[in-house]
Amino acid sequence: MCGIVGYIGKKNAAQITLEGLKRLEYRGYDSAGIAALDQNGAVFMRREVGKISALEKKLKILPQSRLSIAHTRWATHGEPSVSNAHPHADCKNKIFLAHNGIIENHDKIREALLREGHVFRSETDTEVLTHLIERCLAFGAPDLQSAVAQALRHVVGTFGIAVFSADEPDTLIGARRGSPLLLGVGKNEFIVASDAAAVLKRTRKVIYLNDNEMAVLSPKSKKIFNILRTGSKSGKPLKKEVKMIDWSLEDAEKGEFTHFMEKEIHEIPEVIENALRGRALAKEGRAKLGGLDSVEEQLGGIERAVITACGTSYYAGLIGKYLFEKLAHLPTEVIYASEFRYHPPIIGKETAVFAVSQSGETADTLEAVREAKKTGALTLGIVNVVGSSIAREVHAGIYNHAGPEIAVASTKAFVSQLAVLTLAAVHLGRVRGAISQESAAELLKEMLALPSKARKILALGGKIKNLAKSYSNHDNFLYLGRKYNWPVSLEGALKLKEISYVHAEGYPAGEMKHGPIALVDSNFPAMVIAPRDSVYEKTLSNLQELKARRAKIIALATEGDMEIKKYANHVINIPQTPEELSPILSVIPLQLFAYHMAVLKGRDVDKPRNLAKSVTVE
Ligand code: G6P
Repeated sequence: MCGIVGYIGKKNAAQITLEGLKRLEYRGYDSAGIAALDQNGAVFMRREVGKISALEKKLKILPQSRLSIAHTRWATHGEPSVSNAHPHADCKNKIFLAHNGIIENHDKIREALLREGHVFRSETDTEVLTHLIERCLAFGAPDLQSAVAQALRHVVGTFGIAVFSADEPDTLIGARRGSPLLLGVGKNEFIVASDAAAVLKRTRKVIYLNDNEMAVLSPKSKKIFNILRTGSKSGKPLKKEVKMIDWSLEDAEKGEFTHFMEKEIHEIPEVIENALRGRALAKEGRAKLGGLDSVEEQLGGIERAVITACGTSYYAGLIGKYLFEKLAHLPTEVIYASEFRYHPPIIGKETAVFAVSQSGETADTLEAVREAKKTGALTLGIVNVVGSSIAREVHAGIYNHAGPEIAVASTKAFVSQLAVLTLAAVHLGRVRGAISQESAAELLKEMLALPSKARKILALGGKIKNLAKSYSNHDNFLYLGRKYNWPVSLEGALKLKEISYVHAEGYPAGEMKHGPIALVDSNFPAMVIAPRDSVYEKTLSNLQELKARRAKIIALATEGDMEIKKYANHVINIPQTPEELSPILSVIPLQLFAYHMAVLKGRDVDKPRNLAKSVTVE
């Protein structure tokens, strides 16, 4: 949550940070702001409530500058307002800082600084940082670098920051603890940013900062220090590896599509291919997961699994549980990462904890990984963003290779997570002798056929759009499914809620009679996921129960199913596939339905209100 970017170099810094900021807007859009040091040493600062476009309107001309920081905010402390927007400054308007994270002891620090006469101009937790740095300088810190390090040692909580001082025009500082920050390494220029999307236009070379690391940058040099080191050791820079980002700029652009969400749904066939490439060895009846090689021996001794995640990734985890238990006979529990720390599951060395996260930065999921590690459990990541915090903290893992997902509502990443969880289940099944080579071969063959089946569903886009048109005046929806498709009903309902702001409930179809059916009448349509699987007959009965109560029904059914047509008002056809794989296909029409509903209602599809893509606060 919140995106920060800072630039130092020979080019137009304000322009570059503003462009970078646009790529981080998915991290929050309550307000945006920019500060730049112009060539006369004067600081230019503009902040505005709302999206970056609102800030741009306010920015008639950008100053020529070589040093700039910018911020896009998801409000935590203090309402979205200009005074609460970042960057924030110290009393003398010398030190400017943008922050992502939460300073937990801000109250105490603020009180102490107020007593010393510091004047605060916002309600944010962040502002204490600028005054604390100011204080460190006043009390003898020789330069900004030392003052920032000293100040950060006093802070409890999380931060990714970019900071500069008008008194040191050749220095930009970035530092992190708990919130993501990386350093883009260009030619005579450096960019610090919350994620790679903001640096891609200028460089694909990056250095990932670890917790408690601080980058001290000038146009010509970079030095990275550990801020916890004091005394003689503090001056010793760390050696850090420069990595190449394998995403291109085009991957992070909309291309021919109107919205990122639409583009990302259309990338699903390719995303499945990328998840399976070199991994689904159908002929050999095994899944080859290179990322797990280093923990192969421990995997053999695993007796149970815990999957932890948030949001859409959590729903993928629910399906993962069914897959792990069916294909690998591995008892599996799924825990919201936000609950993990506060009611930790009983786990130990015999447990594999899978952290599922598109961004690899979700604070709760990261904390769950840390908690799990303390127990001796084997931690494994299913992560999309290479080099992200979770990817770096787990013992081993499997990357999704789904490419950048920009729309706040997750679509292609969910499908990719399902593909990877299925591969992991097959792999564990083979290791544990729970699935035969033949059965594994058969399932993997079916997996390889999924991309073309997904394309067939995407071709139904027009029909789904018309369906959305005819239902766009409804305010409530019920989504139902059983077994593998129960979590899909949750995900379908979530998509509708988050981007079209229409109320929707996802439910296991069999539970409908225990409450939700009371809501049903002719104005409460139901989306019923009823492929020809082992629970088809049961789901069909539930569908008829709804019909008897005059509910309008949209059914997702296997191609060629004539029976369901008798009861449903509308049928969306899904190609035949084994039930374990059916969520990978059945979720696509639900994503498209939510997308079209949101467009018809004039919503901001890619940036729904109050949400952020990467939730880096608890
Ligand atoms: C936010 C996003 C969701 C996402 C969830 C978990 O709520 O809006 O789309 O599913 O975070 O994110 P992660 O990156 O950990 O998968």
